[in-house]
Amino acid sequence: MRLKALVLSGGKGTRLRPITHTSAKQLVPIANKPILFYGLEAIARCGIREVGIVVGETQAEIRAAVSDGKKWGIQVTYIPQSAPLGLAHAVKISEPFLKRDDFVMYLGDNLLRDGIESFVGEFKKKKPNALILLTKVAHPEQFGVAELSNGIVKRLEEKPKKPKSDMALVGVYMFDSNIFKAVKAIQPSGRGELEITDAIQYLIDKKFKVMPHTVSGWWKDTGRLEDLLEANGLVLMSAKSRNDGAVDAESDLEGTVIIEKGAKVSKSRIRGPAIIGERAEISNSYVGPNTSIYHDTRLKNCGIEHSIVLENSVIENVELIEGSLIGQNAVVRQSPAKPSAYRIMIGDSSRVEIP
Ligand code: DAU
Repeated sequence: MRLKALVLSGGKGTRLRPITHTSAKQLVPIANKPILFYGLEAIARCGIREVGIVVGETQAEIRAAVSDGKKWGIQVTYIPQSAPLGLAHAVKISEPFLKRDDFVMYLGDNLLRDGIESFVGEFKKKKPNALILLTKVAHPEQFGVAELSNGIVKRLEEKPKKPKSDMALVGVYMFDSNIFKAVKAIQPSGRGELEITDAIQYLIDKKFKVMPHTVSGWWKDTGRLEDLLEANGLVLMSAKSRNDGAVDAESDLEGTVIIEKGAKVSKSRIRGPAIIGERAEISNSYVGPNTSIYHDTRLKNCGIEHSIVLENSVIENVELIEGSLIGQNAVVRQSPAKPSAYRIMIGDSSRVEIP
């Protein structure tokens, strides 16, 4: 039987507003590469060729970025979802694509250090009806939570107020076609979504074989700013230094630093792990650890660390920016205008913390 993949790339991205007012959360770059691409790479590495991508209101952007998938050696079918009605709803509308084939479902904003090969391998070997991926977390109330007894999945609960364990459901699942019975039988949850957690609980209740698999390396759900920045640091940490740009003699690079094509660094100190995007210009500045500066962004007389700056932005004369996500075409600069004050034009649902 052939194995397909279903990647979920719709949804609302409320926790990353205002970035997600204008773009898909799955396309925010981690170490200057869209999050979604890491998932597609992991799927391709398993030898899976047929990949369905569920898309919502940001579908134009996702289609433009991923195209037909040839770049990864996969063949992509886009599955439009009318509204983000839940992960199980996404499965339900994908039946014409998935047909009776087994599949791996991958949430497009999830990132796993070690990919999914061992997970997919276990499914192929043990042939359960569903295989769920689990890991210990500090705040289980923010995730789907699994209760195990002697290695058997007993109960699953979506974001419980009082979690019965600290084992969270990671956003990668494997199913056979019995999942369609489940997604058709369940009702929307309190948050109005058809929950995949409830669908898997249905399989457990109906005595289908649901097995757990524990993640070995790190895992991040990048839906929240803090997790996104942490994921960026983790990916940068395992990257290799490269200099495809121009760094002047007055600059100093320390640790893992990637300078992409056409980037210019002058009179600056870059303390890795960090990446400077194509044609970006860094002058008289400090770029500290865990920082990604995307293409065409300009930094002048400023300091920044533990942050992500997207495309074509300008940061000037700012002493130190830390733990921040700055969108595309944004400008952050000190102004000589009087009176000395904060002058801000800021998007809806933004967050600014000032000293
Ligand atoms: O990341 C792991 C968690 O993912 C699990 O622990 C939870 O059990 C599971 O419900 C899910 O929770 P989230 O609240 O984080 O899911 P989110 O709404 O962020 O959606 C995950 C991805 O699926 C995201 O890339 C958007 C996409 N999506 C979401 C919905 C609700 C869709 O494509 N369609 C949808 O209807």
